[in-house]
Amino acid sequence: MQEASAAITAERKHSHVDICLNREVCFDLQNTGLGAWRFQHNAIPEIDASAINLSTEFLGKKIGLPLMISSMTGGYGDALALNRTLAEAAERFGIPLGVGSMRQALEGSSHRESFSVVRKSAPTAPIYANIGAPEVAAGLSRDQLSTLIDLIEADALIVHLNPAQELFQPEGDTNFSGFLDKLSDITATIGVPVIAKEVGCGISPSAARKLADAGVRAIDVAGAGGISWQKVEEHRYIERFSNEERFSPSALDELLNWGIPTSECLTGIAALKQQNPEYGALSVISSGGIGNGLDVAKSIALGANIAASARRMLIALHAGTLDETIRAWANDLKAAMFLTGSASIEELKQAPINHKP
Ligand SMILES: Cc1cc2nc3c(=O)[nH]c(=O)nc-3n(C[C@H](O)[C@H](O)[C@H](O)COP(=O)(O)O)c2cc1C
Repeated sequence: MQEASAAITAERKHSHVDICLNREVCFDLQNTGLGAWRFQHNAIPEIDASAINLSTEFLGKKIGLPLMISSMTGGYGDALALNRTLAEAAERFGIPLGVGSMRQALEGSSHRESFSVVRKSAPTAPIYANIGAPEVAAGLSRDQLSTLIDLIEADALIVHLNPAQELFQPEGDTNFSGFLDKLSDITATIGVPVIAKEVGCGISPSAARKLADAGVRAIDVAGAGGISWQKVEEHRYIERFSNEERFSPSALDELLNWGIPTSECLTGIAALKQQNPEYGALSVISSGGIGNGLDVAKSIALGANIAASARRMLIALHAGTLDETIRAWANDLKAAMFLTGSASIEELKQAPINHKP
C-alpha cells in the first residue's frame, strides 16, 4: 500500500517537471507586480562597480549571492540527474537549494538516492528538505522527520503550503486542520530552522504572523506571477477530470489565477515586520515569477533577504544554460547595485525604490 502510494507520488513528480517545461502554466490575469517598481537612479554612486559584494548571510550561513534554487524535484528515476545538476550549480555559486517534496521518500525506499545525491554533489551549500502541509497536518513521527533531515543532511526544513494545488488535484489532500499546532511541535523539536513556503499563491501578512508565531524562521512568499499550480494540475487531469464541470465557467478563470502577487506579499510582510518588532528577525524569501537579477534586486529593496526561482532555473537546466543564467542574474543584480550606489546587499536593502504611477 505504501509502495503503491510511492509509485503514484513518483509519477506525479515526474509529470510536474514535464508540464512545467512544455505547457502554458503561468498566471495570465496577473503578474508579480515587480515591474511596477523602479529604483531611484543614483547619478553619483561613489562606489567601485568592480568591488560590489554580492555575498550575504542566510539562516546563519554565508552564501555567494542572494539567490536560491527553489524546491522542485526528487523521488523518481530521472530526478537523480536533475537534482545532481542543480546541486553542482548550487555548490559552484555557493547558493541554497531546496529539494522537491520528500513525501515519496517517506512512502517507500526506492529513489532515495535522487534526494541524497544533492548533498553528495553539494557538500557545503545550504540544502533544504521539503514536505507538504497536508503531511504535517496528518502528523509526522520523529523517525519520519529524521528521514527527511538525515537523507540530505539538511540545513533547514521547508514546509510547503499548497491549498490551491491540492484543491485542483483530484487525488489532492485538502485536510489542513490542525496544521499550525503540528507545525509548532516540529519547529520546537526538529533542531534545524523551519521555512514555510507557498508554491505560487503567496503568503499574506496575517498568514506570515501565524507562521512566525508557530516558530518558523523564514517565509518564502512564492507569490502569484510565476507558475499557477492550479493550471499545472488542470493540465495533468484535463482528460479524466474537468474543472469546467466542477466550477462555474466565470469563476474558473479567476480560480486558476488565484493568489497574491509576489511584490504585494513582500510589501505586506515588510510592513508587518516594521510595525511589530517581535517579527523583525523573520527572514523573507521572494519567489513566484522571479525572472532576472533586477527582480532579485527589487525584492531585496522591498524587504526580502534573498530571492528564489524554480521554473526559470528548470528551463535553464533543460537548455544546458544554468550557469550562464545564474551568472547573468548576478550581473543584473550588480548593475542595480551600482546604479543605486549599493556596495553590499545590506546597502541595497536601503536603496530608494518607488511604485510607478
Ligand atoms: C517542476 C516543479 C516542481 C515543484 N515541486 C515542488 C515541491 O515539491 N515542493 C515545493 O515546495 N515546491 C515545489 N515547486 C514550487 C517552487 O518551489 C516555487 O515555489 C514555485 O514554482 C514558484 O516559483 P517560480 O515562479 O520561480 O517557479 C515546484 C516547482 C517546479 C517548477
